[in-house]
Amino acid sequence: MADKKAQLTIDGKTLDLPVYSGTVGPDVIDVRSLTGEGYFTYDPGFVSTAACESAITYIDGEKGVLLHRGYPIEQLAEKATFLETCHLLLFGELPTEEEKAKFEDIITHHTMVHDQLSDFFHGFRRDSHPMAIMCGVVGALSAFYHDSLDINDPRHREVSAFRLIAKIPTIAAMVYKYSIGQPFMYPKNELSYSENFLHMMFNTPAEEKPINPVIARAMDRIFLLHADHEQNASTSTVRLAGSTGANPFACIAAGIAALWGPAHGGANEAVLKMLDEIGTADNIPEFIEKAKDKNDPFRLMGFGHRVYKNYDPRAKVMKQTCDEVLEELGLQDDPQLKMAMELEKIALEDEYFVKRNLYPNVDFYSGIILKAIGIPTEMFTVIFATGRTPGWIAHWHEMIGGNNRIGRPRQLYTGETKRDL
Ligand code: CMC
Repeated sequence: MADKKAQLTIDGKTLDLPVYSGTVGPDVIDVRSLTGEGYFTYDPGFVSTAACESAITYIDGEKGVLLHRGYPIEQLAEKATFLETCHLLLFGELPTEEEKAKFEDIITHHTMVHDQLSDFFHGFRRDSHPMAIMCGVVGALSAFYHDSLDINDPRHREVSAFRLIAKIPTIAAMVYKYSIGQPFMYPKNELSYSENFLHMMFNTPAEEKPINPVIARAMDRIFLLHADHEQNASTSTVRLAGSTGANPFACIAAGIAALWGPAHGGANEAVLKMLDEIGTADNIPEFIEKAKDKNDPFRLMGFGHRVYKNYDPRAKVMKQTCDEVLEELGLQDDPQLKMAMELEKIALEDEYFVKRNLYPNVDFYSGIILKAIGIPTEMFTVIFATGRTPGWIAHWHEMIGGNNRIGRPRQLYTGETKRDL
């Protein structure tokens, strides 16, 4: 129980509210007893609300720190693969060599999707936004695994987690193939997770090119750097949907929907659209002014973050990968990518951005890397969703395996009081 108490005085009555400490980070005040007193707390956008207890990821936005199960993201990006990070998020520890081999084997052997799933694609227009197809097709997975949808059975939860991590890249690549009218590519078991994704994206039955290891490593890093980010909008959506007892495929589809927005996962796509809109480097000052103008809705996409009020630690690593990829592909002189670097430089020096701690976020660089690799802009958020899947599942798993209560926020009602017809 809490030793510390916070006191809240309302209309002369003082309430003692327990204060809990986590292992690190701000203490939280338990306001649950307020309902009994006839009050709710008011926190639109959940800027001051801890909605759950979690042992998965810790962020210190002021210091630019991101830890998964205690490990700094920079170290994971340097020394671990995406699948090792998935293991860490899901099970709490990095795998031993033996566990790693077993986990990779399990994921690899779940990468194929039910053949009938491909029928769903044909219901969509070819020019559908890939995220629209992702929401639908991932949700549809629920219809294929009736045998393992008992969320109270740990084995069912585990196999659903494996299926989602393994099948989402397959579905993501199918979305792309469908959009360009090429046949779907089956996964290949001898390839790594990221190689396999690139193979399913870019190879065809007519021509199978070997996967460039620098690009495969970059892809793995992009997935890894997006793997989890504590209670962000999409993860909170997965938790809220999951709190009702909905099956994991439906919950992840809900997370995909929440990720789609340009203020969240849609930002990497928005970065490239913005670069298109800016056009050439000599227009940058005009757009910087637009971004600063409160009467203009334009914002510099890929800059700023709700939590990081210092450099996004993922962005540092992503920038390094960005440089490697541009060099590998000989794209340092690509006019749009050069313009992006110019924009970054100007924004980092501009007083408006400096004063508000608006640094380039992870999506600024991931957008540039993905464009360089040849992934179309509309697919960027799908890549984010693929990377974020283990984080979503780890949170869902943690919640269902713990003391889960249905999520049910309250409101400050400002509508009409009772009136008669
Ligand atoms: N361009 C111009 N001004 C900005 C920007 C921007 N990108 N971001 C924030 N500001 C200003 C904002 O106008 C406000 O100014 P003032 O204090 O004078 O009113 C100040 O900076 C604080 O911004 P905020 O809107 O209170 O911050 P927020 O925490 O509500 O929003 C954000 C965070 C990420 C939604 C916002 O920074 C933004 O819209 N960025 C562009 C979109 C983007 O890149 N999103 C990806 C986030 S990272 C991926 C993810 O985790 O999903």
